[in-house]
Amino acid sequence: MQANEGSGTVRLMVNGVITQVLLDPDRSLLDVLRDELDVTGPKPGCGEGVCGACTVLLDGEPIRSCRTAVAAVDGRGVLTIEGLAPPGELHPVQQAFLEHGAFQCGYCTPGMILSAVALHEATADPGDESIRAALEGNICRCGTYRRILAAVSDGSPDTESVRGVDSVDVPSIDLDRRPRAPWDLTPTNERDWFDVLPDGLVVVVEADRSGGWSTTSGAWLHVGGDGIVTAFTGKVDAGQDNRTGLSVILAEALELPLSHVRLVMGDTDLCPYDMGTFGSRSTPDAGRELRALGRATRDRLEELAKTLDVVGDRIGDMVRGLRRIDVAARPRDRDSAPESAPAPPPDARRLTGPSIVTGSRRYPSDVVRPGMRHGMVLRPPAADATLRSVELDAVADDHVTVVQEGAFIGVVARTPTEARRALARAKSVWDLLETPREADLEAHLRANPIDEEGWEGRFDQATGDVDAALASANVRLEATYTTAFIAHVPMETRAAVAEWNDDERLTIWTGTQVPFGVREEVAGALAIPEAAVRIIVPDFGGGFGGKHAGPVAIEAARLARAAGNPVKVRWTREDEFRHGYSRPAAVIDIEAGATRDGRLTGWRMTNLNAGTFGLEGPYEVPDQRLVYQPADAPLRQGSYRGLAATANHFARESAMDELAVALEIDALELRLAHLEDERLAAVLKAAAGRIESTRERERGTGIGFAGGIEKDAYVATAVELQVDGDRRVRLTRIVTAFDCGRIVNPDALTNQIEGAMSMGLGGALFEAVHFDAGGVLTNASLSDYRVPRITDVPPVEVILLDRPDLPSAGAGETPIIALAPAIANAIFAATSVRLRDMPLIPSGRLPD
Ligand code: FES
Ligand code: FES
Repeated sequence: MQANEGSGTVRLMVNGVITQVLLDPDRSLLDVLRDELDVTGPKPGCGEGVCGACTVLLDGEPIRSCRTAVAAVDGRGVLTIEGLAPPGELHPVQQAFLEHGAFQCGYCTPGMILSAVALHEATADPGDESIRAALEGNICRCGTYRRILAAVSDGSPDTESVRGVDSVDVPSIDLDRRPRAPWDLTPTNERDWFDVLPDGLVVVVEADRSGGWSTTSGAWLHVGGDGIVTAFTGKVDAGQDNRTGLSVILAEALELPLSHVRLVMGDTDLCPYDMGTFGSRSTPDAGRELRALGRATRDRLEELAKTLDVVGDRIGDMVRGLRRIDVAARPRDRDSAPESAPAPPPDARRLTGPSIVTGSRRYPSDVVRPGMRHGMVLRPPAADATLRSVELDAVADDHVTVVQEGAFIGVVARTPTEARRALARAKSVWDLLETPREADLEAHLRANPIDEEGWEGRFDQATGDVDAALASANVRLEATYTTAFIAHVPMETRAAVAEWNDDERLTIWTGTQVPFGVREEVAGALAIPEAAVRIIVPDFGGGFGGKHAGPVAIEAARLARAAGNPVKVRWTREDEFRHGYSRPAAVIDIEAGATRDGRLTGWRMTNLNAGTFGLEGPYEVPDQRLVYQPADAPLRQGSYRGLAATANHFARESAMDELAVALEIDALELRLAHLEDERLAAVLKAAAGRIESTRERERGTGIGFAGGIEKDAYVATAVELQVDGDRRVRLTRIVTAFDCGRIVNPDALTNQIEGAMSMGLGGALFEAVHFDAGGVLTNASLSDYRVPRITDVPPVEVILLDRPDLPSAGAGETPIIALAPAIANAIFAATSVRLRDMPLIPSGRLPD
């Protein structure tokens, strides 16, 4: 292909198609692919060439398209994930990723696959070390590295290419139709069901909040003449594969194959109200609702079959031409009855997989609307700084609209590059808050307790006389443990596309864990009725508790209203660090006492700032006091996978180890001697047994373990590691035993646990948000904030303890809580160095 040198345009071939684009020195290849050519397989992740999400092949070589000027590809061939295999087929590496389920949210997957393809082209049968080296520059925040390693190992191009599996994660109904008002805000009998849905049968289970805390309320589905059942849930899928898990539950209740089931998730006009996808409540809450709905529908269909004299599974025939709405009673008796676990459907893994490995899945940041423009917002250097002055005279031009509403200032332009350039012409001065530096954090938190209302308020619970118990103890421990602020770092940064309709109603596509909460936020911020706002949440690229609020949605809506066009706002990685929120830092004091023969008698534990999750421990101690004291944090903080349970377990499980050492008792024995909970004992024994905790080990090698209960699930993690003569720590093995009751989808569960181990490694070993006075972050980029890479993760073994007779608990959070203390305990076993601050070894080396 000829280049277009000197012509003001660039000619390139993208996936075999020759195309010509304008030469612009500020535009990257990634910008051109995504925003001009609508090739969205390459993903923006960091913008600085260090995450690999934007990887494409340039004449067969993997490159970072975010760091490649479009001029550099003149006359060359670009291959993206979309062009890797002919339509309907998969490249062997794609096939291997599918087979191994080597993804969760899938946002990193196109870049991973292309890097792996290039490796296979360059190296025949690459071994593990070559694969790790080749993929070290590709980050998977969901932590599916073990599976990625296996998939790349199996994905040799010598393998015959195989036909892909049809994706079934797309509803078969037209979702562009919008009801007159959101269905959750409309009584059942007034909803305009069949203005939106095709003919068929609608079955509704009414909202019921009488069963205690629930994050979901009511459920409904549609049975279409095509035989497809489409159910609506307010839950969303951020990579935890709720879509498959909930579909499995529904299909089982309906007694239909999984391929007959679709889910519409997180659409506030169409779905039942849901408080949010957090707290590991998807399976327990939405699963319960969908199971009840599925059974009620099955009953309806059986009745219909009798009435219509239709037999068998031809449900499409039964409902074709109907416009019928059935409100079903909630089948409480059967719903609460213990059940046997179903065999996992063989196609469960593949429900979301094909669209991920082919790059056809459209994430929120990939959404494009007709006439769409791109917006950017003027931001301060620290989240809560206030604007002192701004000069905007040089910002607007023929293609750039400036929007100023009070302190909110943004621009709208034809491309992100134009918007970025325009905003750079604004001159602003900001006043920072007076907040402490990082070095003074512990003293600041101790000196600045605050009052909070509700469940986030102070907690103080005492049994017995802890002062007397500690005073009379033979053996005492007093220790302080800390955890740093850490960042969520979802691979997809926050993004929203807002579109105003002629009737003043607003639709926003965005990635959030709380669509109904964002609807309320947007309505409040823009002073419009909640019913006028529709939030649609496409499956998105990771949340981990970090996407609980809607600032990006509000920004897009404001800019779109002012510009008169749909507007997309996508936060940069720096925005994500500086203007999102962090996991709270913690300072935890523990005082514990025991008799000489190893009975714990007194326990006082005080958590400053982090929260109450995991504060109440599983061990039987007669005299205890547990305190949580909120404090004035210098950074924005909020929800995070596991939240305070990670800090509280780190402290408690480290302290238990320290007590075992002081008492000269085996650490497992000490735990078991104080446990009445048989399920926690079982996971501890399983993990310790697998790692052979009593086996002799060579010098410099240590094992450690820890366990806990959180969100009704039980976990124990055992770690083996080595410390070399240079004091570098290398994890060689992680074993995690997990019990969350009845297992719905063992493969997805294992994937979640493996991912939690991988993500948890970062917080345990090296992740920390660093900051200066005024709350200014000093490591707000992926080159400065290190997250686990494929080279950091050792082999992970998962032991699932199935409890088919018990209700299923969620598994998104609990597995992460025992890893850090297990590592700290293993480091002590190897070196006699006790580390009480997370991250444990930010430099990679133990302190001298
Ligand atoms: S490497 Fe290009 S977006 Fe991260
Ligand atoms: S699957 Fe890799 S970032 Fe989510």
